[in-house]
Amino acid sequence: MTANELRNKFINFFVSRGHQAIKSASLIPENDPTCLFTTAGMHPLVPYLQGAKHPAGKRLTDFQKCIRTGDIDEVGDPVHLTFFEMLGNWSLGDYGKAEAIKFSYEFLTGKDYLNIPVSRLAVTVFAGDDDAPFDAEAFELWRSLGIPEERIAKCGKKDNWWGPAGETGPCGPDSEMFYWTGELPPPEKFDPANKLWVEIWNDVFMEYTKTAEGKIVPSAQKNIDTGMVLERVNAILQGKASCYDTEIFTPLFNALDRVRGLAEAPAERVPGERIIADHLRAAVFIIADNVTPGNVDQGYVLRRLIRRAIREGKKLGIERAFTSEIADAVIASFREIYPELEAQEDKIKSELDREEKQFAETLEKGTREFEKLIGRVPPHIEKKVISGKNAFYLYETYGFPIELTVEMAKERGFSVDVDGFKEAFAKHQELSRQGAEQKFKGGLADHSVATSRLHTATHLLQAALRKVLGSHVEQRGSNITAERLRFDFSHEEKVTPEQLAEVERLVNEVIAANIPVECSEMTVPEAKAMGAMGLFEDKYGAKVKVYKIGDVSCEICGGPHAANTGELQSFKIKKEESSSRGVRRIKAVIGAK
Ligand code: ALA
Repeated sequence: MTANELRNKFINFFVSRGHQAIKSASLIPENDPTCLFTTAGMHPLVPYLQGAKHPAGKRLTDFQKCIRTGDIDEVGDPVHLTFFEMLGNWSLGDYGKAEAIKFSYEFLTGKDYLNIPVSRLAVTVFAGDDDAPFDAEAFELWRSLGIPEERIAKCGKKDNWWGPAGETGPCGPDSEMFYWTGELPPPEKFDPANKLWVEIWNDVFMEYTKTAEGKIVPSAQKNIDTGMVLERVNAILQGKASCYDTEIFTPLFNALDRVRGLAEAPAERVPGERIIADHLRAAVFIIADNVTPGNVDQGYVLRRLIRRAIREGKKLGIERAFTSEIADAVIASFREIYPELEAQEDKIKSELDREEKQFAETLEKGTREFEKLIGRVPPHIEKKVISGKNAFYLYETYGFPIELTVEMAKERGFSVDVDGFKEAFAKHQELSRQGAEQKFKGGLADHSVATSRLHTATHLLQAALRKVLGSHVEQRGSNITAERLRFDFSHEEKVTPEQLAEVERLVNEVIAANIPVECSEMTVPEAKAMGAMGLFEDKYGAKVKVYKIGDVSCEICGGPHAANTGELQSFKIKKEESSSRGVRRIKAVIGAK
């Protein structure tokens, strides 16, 4: 079976059992200030797990593109990936644990589906603690389906509890399914610590909510969230130990071989090749979701992925620009499943080329500077060290990653004060990087009254910007906390103080007019006919929500919103700045003057 077949089988299975297939959401969370990237299938669905009505219904199935950068330094080994696809099925207050487990069992063992012999399967269930009891129901369900007791392990929170993704929100006990990858027959007894048992799927019974006080309380709506990592399960079913050894990565490696002028594919891939394939695959998808390389947030991660891939290329002896050739292979492989790759093809390649060129210049200048630093140390000094301050200078001014400095220093008999570098780094980058680190941890947006009002303010801001600056203005990103909104939009030049004042005035005018915010559900063509704006088109499946504010604004949006513009009281722009090339960023607040 190939990954494409696995993806199709999964979706078809759940569609045939009353689920609606929805499209993958963007890699960039729409309104979640605590996360840079979508890290799991549940992420874009949080409002619906919390009770909002999903336009496609209560039973959903999807494949969601995800980025996890927590283990970026591990990429290169056979298993780690930064970009992956997560298959999932969802019950939003519809079916419960019994059906979820039955669906999983049927999909795993069914002749027309994965056809895995029961003898190769094992499961874990939640053992129980002060927050929630032992999951006797899940235990019984698995047993009644034919999983022997010795193949059902009871584990604690560390292994069998999922969420919340951030500090608060939906969470619950889960049940993980494992596949025996060792010699047959598998051992009778399941030992989760034995690495030959590999996790292939996770059913989360999202029945609880973690409150701001840290309490775990039963939720009003009980949901099912499941997650199966496509790349991993694809490899396992093909009997491969590494997801890099499957057809998903073959075209990328072939492109790399061509770049290197290799007549034949190497017998085994080395970490550098895996890093290039993983990082550039991730970079292609991130750019397709409208991020450009930069020094903060998603742009910083993107830059890091691209530069790391280029460095690995250099180590493999590649002397010329090559990233867009790998991108070609990624786009060719995934264009049918993710049409945004085709739509953004030119942009993806030009951004990669630009970053590669910029990094090459940086490397050249930085190397000269590096030579100067080294040259200052008299040859008779025995312990030759590049100080943390100087390593940071190379990083900040020339974009030299610390690993590069360390490596080059080693070649010249120098060491680097890495701790000193880290100190200097922490001091200077407090704001942007620490913020980013926080966001890597994952988290959920807060859907309080304040954020609802800020969503509405964001629509009004976009409408006003289009009036004042022109209809080329389109949303490029939105991030809302309880305190402020942050809106990124397409516009080349700095917005002048006069234009900002006019935008503010227009928004305040609509607030003063007390206009009701109306929400209706309709199909995408109907929404288009109404003139609704929306970047994510039919992401939500058959039906979308359209929020209309008088004749000022009409947008496809998941919500939530204020009931009336008057609730916003007043609107004030706090900052206007560049976000990335061709994209401006506005931060604004609302509330009593
Ligand atoms: N949300 C669960 C996971 O990511 C399914 O594993």
